[in-house]
Amino acid sequence: MNCGVKLGNISLKSPLLPASGTFASGKEYSEFVDLNSLGAVVTKGVSAQPWSGNPMPRIAETASGMLNAIGLQNAGVEHFIQEDLPFLKQMKAKIIVNICGKTIEDYLQVVERLSSESVDFLEINISCPNIKEGGIAFGQNAQNIFEITSLIKKKAKQPIMIKLSPNVTDIKEMAKAAQEGGADAISLINTLTGTKIDIHQRKFVLANQTGGLSGPAIKPIALNMVYQAAQAVSIPLIGMGGIQSGEDAIEFLMAGATAVAVGTSLFRYPGIFQEILLAIQDYMRRYKVKNIKDIIGIL
Ligand SMILES: Cc1cc2nc3c(=O)[nH]c(=O)nc-3n(C[C@H](O)[C@H](O)[C@H](O)COP(=O)(O)O)c2cc1C
Repeated sequence: MNCGVKLGNISLKSPLLPASGTFASGKEYSEFVDLNSLGAVVTKGVSAQPWSGNPMPRIAETASGMLNAIGLQNAGVEHFIQEDLPFLKQMKAKIIVNICGKTIEDYLQVVERLSSESVDFLEINISCPNIKEGGIAFGQNAQNIFEITSLIKKKAKQPIMIKLSPNVTDIKEMAKAAQEGGADAISLINTLTGTKIDIHQRKFVLANQTGGLSGPAIKPIALNMVYQAAQAVSIPLIGMGGIQSGEDAIEFLMAGATAVAVGTSLFRYPGIFQEILLAIQDYMRRYKVKNIKDIIGIL
């Protein structure tokens, strides 16, 4: 039984990845998860300079999900290269670095700084607000997606994956813009904007007022968006949003994802990767699927 997949020229021994921002730099989870069993480790967002994140409270529970407004807190690319990357390099899993920025120049600076490092893929988080465009996220407009993708592609030494925001009218247009800009892969979905109100204190629960909704609550939306994107582009997709079982993961693969990422469900149970992989293998045995590629995009 073969569960290996390929993202362009990069081979992953498993289609399971952690979703960016829910696995820290990977090191913190290594006590609970065998990193060598993952297809790749996906880091949390790395920016050119350190970011302190949003004021607290920045997490709230919701029905079947959670809201977060962490604000992409991270120690910056230099710290990542000095402190986190050496550990990840010892692992067998591929390394995907998630990149965030407030301006295009910010993104390009991180891409350039990582160009000589042994990193396998760059995942570009375009859900960040573009401060030069009044705070509208880079990923909310197809023209902006095309431009940022083309600029990053020109500079990047590693293949690039554009991470799409679901907070858009037509995900197909956004996926096409990323492909036309030269993306090697697309990951989707990032979180959906939401809020929660404390009726006793008569105020928003999150200090930031709004946050990103993730977890099982968003799975049907994510699955539909992955299917839509798979109809619109030919580059590989990494699907995510609410995955918590082997069945969920298989649904995403059938909808057209080459690999899948698990985020929020990891907080509930860090052993979930093993559980999902076993469930996928059970399914393959039951339906006599020899190679996982035979179920990818079958719908
Ligand atoms: C606490 C938290 C932090 C996140 N940080 C990032 C991030 O740094 N970069 C990014 O592209 N996505 C980030 N995300 C989005 C996830 O990678 C993922 O796209 C989303 O949560 C949907 O998957 P899930 O429902 O399995 O969590 C974050 C999500 C959560 C819950």
